[in-house]
Amino acid sequence: MLTVYVLWLACQVAWTWELHKPVPWQQHCSAACQCMDDGRVVICSHSRLSRVPSDLPATTKTLDMDDNQLGALRNTSFIGLSNLEVVSVQHNGIQFLETGVFLRLSRLREVRLGGNHLTRLPRNVFRRNRNLQVLDLHGNTFVTLPDVAMFRQHNLLVLNMSSNHVTSSVLGPAFRFTTQLTSLDLE
Ligand SMILES: *[C@@H]1O[C@H](CO)[C@@H](O)[C@H](O)[C@H]1NC(C)=O
Ligand SMILES: *[C@@H]1O[C@H](CO)[C@@H](O)[C@H](O)[C@H]1NC(C)=O
Repeated sequence: MLTVYVLWLACQVAWTWELHKPVPWQQHCSAACQCMDDGRVVICSHSRLSRVPSDLPATTKTLDMDDNQLGALRNTSFIGLSNLEVVSVQHNGIQFLETGVFLRLSRLREVRLGGNHLTRLPRNVFRRNRNLQVLDLHGNTFVTLPDVAMFRQHNLLVLNMSSNHVTSSVLGPAFRFTTQLTSLDLE
């Protein structure tokens, strides 16, 4: 009797597993995007998207969302994408970022926000992103350098502020943390 029960249980478990086994990334690329390199590189550029698709593979390391219509980056924009290292959201009419947008992205190395309408960054926006190496803010409407966001950015190598409305090249106090900064573009 016990043997029969055990067999029945094994069948149930196998059946449940079949239903719920993880979906391979190939079957799981958002319709608006192209997934490459085993789901590590995801390209969703030029797709008229007003939000980051919610069905991107969790394996995504590089996400290219250039030339869409995001308008803003929200706390919820990158939920479930904790492996992200490179995010490019250039030319998206972005006017603001919510403070928590990059909160869970501890591997973030490169953020490209060029060609948007940003005048400032929330003060704690990179609080949990201590591996940030490249921050590209070219072609926005900043009038001052994003000082407070530089707090504890020990690994930042490149800050691109070209084609903004920055009137003073004075580095604020938080820039004392950016000891690795090798390129600050103020053209
Ligand atoms: C999400 O964004 C709002 C601002 O729109 C902010 O007040 C809130 O603290 C954020 N949440 C997190 C977890 O950062
Ligand atoms: C900053 O961005 C502009 C526009 O994309 C580019 O031409 C320039 O080379 C960049 N500067 C650096 C230091 O990467």
